Amino acid sequence: MTRLGAAYSAGASSWAGGPALVYGRLAEVLVAFCPVPLAGRLVLDLGTGTGLASQAAGAVGAHLLAADLALGMLQHDRARRPAAVVADALCLPFADGAFDVVLAAFALNHLDDPSAGVREAGRVGRTLLASTYAADDDHPAKAAVEVALAEAGWKPPEWYPRLKASMAAWGTVEGATEAVERGGLRPLLVERHEVPFPELGPADMVAWRLGLAQCAGFVAALDSAARDRIVERAVEELGADPEPLVRRVIFLAAGR
Ligand SMILES: C[S@@+](CC[C@H](N)C(=O)[O-])C[C@H]1O[C@@H](n2cnc3c(N)ncnc32)[C@H](O)[C@@H]1O
Repeated sequence: MTRLGAAYSAGASSWAGGPALVYGRLAEVLVAFCPVPLAGRLVLDLGTGTGLASQAAGAVGAHLLAADLALGMLQHDRARRPAAVVADALCLPFADGAFDVVLAAFALNHLDDPSAGVREAGRVGRTLLASTYAADDDHPAKAAVEVALAEAGWKPPEWYPRLKASMAAWGTVEGATEAVERGGLRPLLVERHEVPFPELGPADMVAWRLGLAQCAGFVAALDSAARDRIVERAVEELGADPEPLVRRVIFLAAGR
């Protein structure tokens, strides 16, 4: 498994305790964005993580199978989730046209070349529904948490800067459209949306950032006093009244 996959695999419970506050809503918005009805369709939740997109698609009547590079992610809350396989988005263990829809919530944006993932998704599914962050997605919580982590000795893993660069490359409507076309699919709908999270306060924002794969392992290895210090320091750096979190996301649907 890649180091990125290992980081996700080890970080499933941290993901569920923080980032899920944000990704659950984003999965619902992605599912609502789908231009074809999902009820009764066979959907592959690719890069499923802890299963938030499966939940959103299941709620509108989709039949699901899930896949992820990270076994730890698939094991999280296993009993309540669809059947799943460990698989790489670049080489999926499924026949051509096996799925009506491939649902890839913030998953193909982990590939160095997203168009290779688009091509493989288009091989196994008739429609691709995917999300990635807009290149201008930002919030002060990101910097505040990185300051607190750095003071505690955290260094970004080697895969993290590369990941950020490849995400930014298709983080516009034009870039995402081009990635879809290079992957051999026809863009149906590609839009940039702003998704607000007015209910999240500073502690939630810090929990969101601290549960992400680039730092969850570092944080989990600390004792609880050291973890509390990072949280306190990040909240202090962020301030008591930060701007509300709004995530800027590219949603796309593509077909053959
Ligand atoms: C940002 S998380 C998103 C998880 C979930 N889709 C959600 O929206 O909550 C990215 C997920 O993609 C998985 N992933 C990354 N690279 C992958 C690859 N090459 N093949 C399959 N899954 C991958 C990670 O293990 C992780 O679970």
